Amino acid sequence: MKQILYLVLTWLLNKLGGGNLALLNFMITLVNEFVVKAMMKEACNTPSGSFVEIGVYQGGTAQHITSLAEQQGRDVFLYDTFTGIPHKDIVDVHEIGDFTDTSFELISDLFSYARVIPGIFPNSAVEMDHVAFVHLDCDQYRSIIESVNYLKPLMVKGGVMWFDDYGLLAGATKAVHELFGENIETITGKAVVRF
Ligand SMILES: C[S@@+](CC[C@H](N)C(=O)[O-])C[C@H]1O[C@@H](n2cnc3c(N)ncnc32)[C@H](O)[C@@H]1O
Repeated sequence: MKQILYLVLTWLLNKLGGGNLALLNFMITLVNEFVVKAMMKEACNTPSGSFVEIGVYQGGTAQHITSLAEQQGRDVFLYDTFTGIPHKDIVDVHEIGDFTDTSFELISDLFSYARVIPGIFPNSAVEMDHVAFVHLDCDQYRSIIESVNYLKPLMVKGGVMWFDDYGLLAGATKAVHELFGENIETITGKAVVRF
């Protein structure tokens, strides 16, 4: 019920704003505002480059990322399968197909400024260079390993990767440790890696 209300309100605000994403900052969100604020502060201060999100679902964090990208004149790439979780390893908590209650059409309609790309990342990757900030919110071990391995060479000096599921989901935590070992900083309990 809360999610349906959220989707209707998001759609209505975007329509009323004629695509002006600044309006969306006033909407109700399912994500923790304290964490989002800290994350956006990091993104805001990165050098010139694109923003990328892996794991959009219903756009809870994408609204903030897209809004800031628009304000700062950056490109923004939003990736999701839009058919739910694609992989499950033994360490993972979520099941294949969790998070299906969203759609490519809904997210494309909400975030007209962003480039919304459906499919399993990184197979779905479009051309991107100079990536300044990545929000990895794709939950599962394999998704994180493959996403980071693809994105790492694209990161600008001073760029940041933010891992939402670190410390919350075993697969995500294991992946971040394997990928970055000691080079992890934590902010509001989330893992942050600087390039
Ligand atoms: C927890 S949800 C994202 C939540 C969202 N950031 C928010 O603010 O509400 C996780 C999403 O990651 C997506 N996902 C997981 N692995 C993926 C992959 N390899 N490629 C694309 N999307 C993936 C799932 O489809 C799901 O929608």
